[in-house]
Amino acid sequence: MLQAVFTALPTQIIEFDEDGIIIDNNSDIPSLVSLIDNSPDSRLKQHVHEFFPDRLALEIDENISTLNKTRQPSSINYPIQLEDGEHWFEARFILTSEKHIIIIIQDITRYKSSEAKSQTQLNQLSALRAIDRSITSSVDLNLTLSMLVTQLVDHLNIDAAAILLWNAESERLEYATGLGFRTKALKHTILRLGEGYAGIAAKERRIVHKNNLTTETSDFLRSPSFDKEKFSSYYGLPLIAKGKILGVLEVFNRSPRTSDADWLGFMEMLSSQAAIAIDNASLFGHVQRSNSEITSAYDATINGWSRALDMRDKETEGHTKRVIKRTLQLAHKLGIPKSDLIHIRRGAALHDIGKMGIPDRILHKPGPLTEVEWEIMRQHPQSAYDLLSPIEYLRPALDIPYYHHERWDGSGYPFGLKADEIPIAARLFAVIDVYDALTSDRPYRSAWSDQAAIYYIDEQAGILFDLKITNTFLNII
Ligand code: C2E
Ligand code: SIN
Ligand code: SIN
Ligand code: FE
Ligand code: FE
Repeated sequence: MLQAVFTALPTQIIEFDEDGIIIDNNSDIPSLVSLIDNSPDSRLKQHVHEFFPDRLALEIDENISTLNKTRQPSSINYPIQLEDGEHWFEARFILTSEKHIIIIIQDITRYKSSEAKSQTQLNQLSALRAIDRSITSSVDLNLTLSMLVTQLVDHLNIDAAAILLWNAESERLEYATGLGFRTKALKHTILRLGEGYAGIAAKERRIVHKNNLTTETSDFLRSPSFDKEKFSSYYGLPLIAKGKILGVLEVFNRSPRTSDADWLGFMEMLSSQAAIAIDNASLFGHVQRSNSEITSAYDATINGWSRALDMRDKETEGHTKRVIKRTLQLAHKLGIPKSDLIHIRRGAALHDIGKMGIPDRILHKPGPLTEVEWEIMRQHPQSAYDLLSPIEYLRPALDIPYYHHERWDGSGYPFGLKADEIPIAARLFAVIDVYDALTSDRPYRSAWSDQAAIYYIDEQAGILFDLKITNTFLNII
């Protein structure tokens, strides 16, 4: 029975002695027949190396000597190029009780290729996942696209990849990002629809494949240094979302590529992911644009309000503009973060908006205010707060309208805050406001000279005003 099994097994079994001389072997397995030209019988007394390609001789000898020492079975895997393509074999080494060695050889090509296929699929899946994550988590199109080409080149066995984006205004395909190129050959790519391989892919909305870029008169002549890239195969995949052409994904390889259906299917999937990313990003771009349109509309409104205030307060043209300019200048000198400046600008423009609620007879009174009138006048910061705080967009700008009459020594209103309790924007604005008020005509007095105003501010430093801010202001003025 053992003899029958020995003969029938789809594995090559060879027994040989300590000198490597073959004692017995079964009939050949089909894939090895073409490699070994003599018959099983005539092989007896030959050396075991006959069964292996010459390049493996050393490895076989090492395995045998290890086996003799450790007595543990071992194995090697190796490929052989046969007529019908590459085959993989596994040879297992086992020691018998008579110190003979048995080698069992199996054709593991099918196992190997399914293993390679799973590995490829795993790579593709993880690349896809990484790209997906980048699309959903990033609104930065450049980042997403460069992520995409990185995945292609690093994990998917592609030598170089580029993405061209369709510019709807210029009606051209333009280079957006790329990886794996040796030259800058393609960086300046600008193609019309139908021009070049990418232009054809976009125009005809189909994959363009070329497998002999090196020999064919290539369409890449548009780029003089393209030759140096030594590319052999090309794929141009159109990027289409919601029926619109958004660009082309270009994939280059330096060795000819026989693309199986799996690979191409995967590339198509990637292309549609890329198209979605591009589509998302351009949607976001539109939202961003309309956001900035809203912002400038708001700012125009604010400017309108502050001009209306100037008119009512009988201020001269440019009063508010001047106050804003000096406020920003002082804020900058004091090292206030850039991102706060926009709010300070809006706050300065609206600082006295609360005076809207003050009757003309008080606001325009040519003489000193009575106690009752003062009570009304001192409400203007609170009115500003009540008016502006429901507007979310102006909430960060409230410090100045609300607190510009607070004083360093706590003598101000509406709360009598002291020193650092007063927000810095209001502290610095107070200096600017008083200087500007003093040097302007008022219904109750005419303008002071610059010198008199400067003298007054200097005198009040550390009393009404923050000392450090005052000094900075005086340096500027
Ligand atoms: P405003 O005219 O814009 O003045 C802003 C701030 O500059 C004043 O806040 C005050 O700190 C300073 N300031 C303005 N003029 C003088 C001045 O002649 N001498 C001194 N030492 N400081 C001056 P304040 O005092 O809280 O006043 C708030 C607002 O009340 C003023 O805004 C103005 O619209 C009104 N106001 C103040 N005093 C009088 C007044 O005597 N008559 C009338 N009709 N209105 C007054
Ligand atoms: C506005 O947006 O102008 C007011 C709406 C709001 O209460 O935020
Ligand atoms: C904004 O979006 O900047 C303003 C909206 C609002 O007033 O709440
Ligand atoms: Fe005020
Ligand atoms: Fe004022």
